[in-house]
Amino acid sequence: MSKVLGISGSLRRGSFNSALLRAAQRLMPDGATLEIATIRGIPLYDGDVEAQGIPVTVTQLKEAIAAADGVLLVTPEYNNSIPGVFKNAIDWLSRPPKDVPRVFRGRRVALIGASPGNFGTILSQSAWLPVLRTLGTQPWFGGRLMVSRADGVFDEAGQLKDAALEGKLREFLAGFVAFLGS
Ligand SMILES: Cc1cc2nc3c(=O)[nH]c(=O)nc-3n(C[C@H](O)[C@H](O)[C@H](O)COP(=O)(O)O)c2cc1C
Repeated sequence: MSKVLGISGSLRRGSFNSALLRAAQRLMPDGATLEIATIRGIPLYDGDVEAQGIPVTVTQLKEAIAAADGVLLVTPEYNNSIPGVFKNAIDWLSRPPKDVPRVFRGRRVALIGASPGNFGTILSQSAWLPVLRTLGTQPWFGGRLMVSRADGVFDEAGQLKDAALEGKLREFLAGFVAFLGS
């Protein structure tokens, strides 16, 4: 059984990215589970705070990543790049540096994202790549999923209503899970 940990980079209640993550949870292939984690509660990174100790929200998320076979990052795009709250969370998760090998090195990671715009987080996903490389992760490049015009693909309850997209998401997840087992 492969265990995937999914993290949405949006705090917004009606987030398209969080809705996409919930849809992914329902569409996981047999033999794999997707647990949803949150960046909520992670403070702004501050070295003075770190000097007092790593916040418990950070430690819990680090341990969840360390225990996962794979991590699915569901990223919004802000100003053609990674939203600050999401980057801030990853920055905290990389502290202290001595834990980076245990938490991130060789960790298999996949990226997806949703935006109401036409380009579906393509630049945000690209902006993640140097971060994932720096942390020593093993990103999966076998599939790509960029959800554009996201305001039209979820219903009011946040359920995926676009059958074609559902198929693409299912295929993406199957590919990532196959990579985890390889
Ligand atoms: C500060 C800011 C910058 C944004 N920049 C972009 C952008 O560069 N590209 C894009 O496609 N959408 C951009 N958006 C729109 C977001 O894609 C949209 O707010 C989306 O709903 C955020 O994801 P969420 O629904 O998961 O919260 C921006 C939104 C904000 C608040």
